Amino acid sequence: MLVDDNPTHACVTPVGAVAGRRVRTIEALEEGGRLHPVQQAFLDAGAFQCGYCTPGMILTALGLLLRCPDPSEEAIVRAMQGNLCRCGTYPRIVQAIGRAAAELRATAVAGGAR
Ligand code: FES
Repeated sequence: MLVDDNPTHACVTPVGAVAGRRVRTIEALEEGGRLHPVQQAFLDAGAFQCGYCTPGMILTALGLLLRCPDPSEEAIVRAMQGNLCRCGTYPRIVQAIGRAAAELRATAVAGGAR
């Protein structure tokens, strides 16, 4: 989940620790039936197989892109290091985050940042 736009492990965070803070989960990203650009990029890049890791990957990626809209591949890999994918889709995850970054930058230029 994102807590005040920072990736946070929900499984080890007591609910009292996030009282009064902005909490976003994967379910909060879609708007009006449209996937968030990070979700869409993961889908377009085929960046998941079983999907078990995908919510954490997407939210960690979004947290990165909120801090750093144009990350290098090295920065993407570094930011995602705490997230494990048993299916081994890492190359596609990195590709998806690059695509999402480009889409979010283009959307921000057009005035529609999410
Ligand atoms: Fe299966 Fe990542 S897609 S664990």
